[in-house]
Amino acid sequence: MSRMLLQRGHSVYIIDVNEEELAHTVNVHLKDYPKRFSAICDVTNVDQVRLVAEDAVRKLGIVDCLVNDAAIARPTMANPMTDYSTWDEYNKFIQVNLISAFTVSQAFASKMAKDGAIVHISSTRWQQSQADWYVHPFVVSPSNVK
Ligand SMILES: NC(=O)c1ccc[n+]([C@@H]2O[C@H](COP(=O)([O-])OP(=O)(O)OC[C@H]3O[C@@H](n4cnc5c(N)ncnc54)[C@H](O)[C@@H]3O)[C@@H](O)[C@H]2O)c1
Repeated sequence: MSRMLLQRGHSVYIIDVNEEELAHTVNVHLKDYPKRFSAICDVTNVDQVRLVAEDAVRKLGIVDCLVNDAAIARPTMANPMTDYSTWDEYNKFIQVNLISAFTVSQAFASKMAKDGAIVHISSTRWQQSQADWYVHPFVVSPSNVK
């Protein structure tokens, strides 16, 4: 999506918590596009998100579109109902996949163009019934971002 926007002449500001993956995306996949900007940012850290929103406006001038694709997509927990050690992972899932939708929207909304758009990427996984997955965070979080 970033490449497509850059190819059409737009500027893109990418954030990710994973430094290695972000550097690879920016320096390998998008190396030919000077109008790409990036920053390490954890979307569960409200202060980081607000700082990045300010930096994005400084670099881009105006933000026309915000795409929130941050997610933990591959859970490792085997049985959240009986294994108490999964609580931290469950909580992190909800923070990243659900609460960050509000965090990033709030940080960017007042800085966006009047006809700007905010897109949250979610999943249809919540519609699929599966044994042991009824309270699974990958089912619960997208069911609230729909
Ligand atoms: N991959 C699929 O088949 C598929 C299908 C349907 C919907 N989706 C949806 O697309 C979205 C992204 O999934 P994906 O498959 O591209 O996952 P992915 O793991 O490839 O990408 C998610 C990105 O979010 C980043 N991230 C994780 N925690 C973060 C944090 N705290 N702060 C900032 N960045 C963070 C990761 O580093 C990663 O780069 C999810 O909402 C998922 O439900 C994916």
